[in-house]
Amino acid sequence: MTNQIYYYEIIDSTNEELKRLAEKGISHGSVAVAKEQTAGKGRRGRQWYSPNAGNLYFSILLRPPFGADKASLLTLIMALSVAQAFYENGCRDARIKWPNDIVVNGRKVCGILTELQMQPGGDYFVIVGVGINIGNEEFTEEIRHMATTLSREMGGTIDSREMLSKILFYFNANYTEYERVTDFSILRERYEFYLLNKDVTVNVLDPKGEFRGIAKGVNEDGELLVEKEDGNIVTVYAGEVSVRGIYGYV
Ligand code: BTN
Repeated sequence: MTNQIYYYEIIDSTNEELKRLAEKGISHGSVAVAKEQTAGKGRRGRQWYSPNAGNLYFSILLRPPFGADKASLLTLIMALSVAQAFYENGCRDARIKWPNDIVVNGRKVCGILTELQMQPGGDYFVIVGVGINIGNEEFTEEIRHMATTLSREMGGTIDSREMLSKILFYFNANYTEYERVTDFSILRERYEFYLLNKDVTVNVLDPKGEFRGIAKGVNEDGELLVEKEDGNIVTVYAGEVSVRGIYGYV
């Protein structure tokens, strides 16, 4: 995959910009990166605080050969790649909070927003957007208690461009492996190495009813396996529920 990079000092949202470019036909693997976003988007309709503070905001465009039903895996593949890049940078406390937040010392440093767009004729493309708090000193009131930055956790200055190239290196490798077999088992061991909620009790916030269980890992579709109190193992699909620790965010 070649990563054609589109660089912006300031943009509304790299996900939105890349979507506009994708409609015009730019190629698989293209990346939009910005120093600042005026309308950064988070999951579940939330906003993503995006000041110009040495943080990393980027999105990658994918035009996968496999069916759109597998596209949610791309979020997990990105989470894995970010965790690997942090780890390589010396951040040994980087963990994935399933499916796709990266947490350091119990606080969130990175969020991922994946958006899928169907095209006339049945084709589709996917935008995987990544926001990483690196250098900002402040957070909004709403997220202050659960967010942190890489600089704060690791000390020193972290170069966002270098971080981007490391993440893309791992993403390209992981994506290529996954694309070959379209089975997440090939990356499972690697993913579970970083998985924060493995073998811990979690609350599953399912719209059909909240329940508690022990997270056992992920299956070949990247779904979380949760063992309920009665011993039954249920699979939890990332799109519909979120998972919390029993004491709060992690
Ligand atoms: C989350 O809510 O955890 C996901 C946050 C994703 C933020 C990134 S920043 C780059 C890209 N552009 C956006 O507007 N959002 C994503």
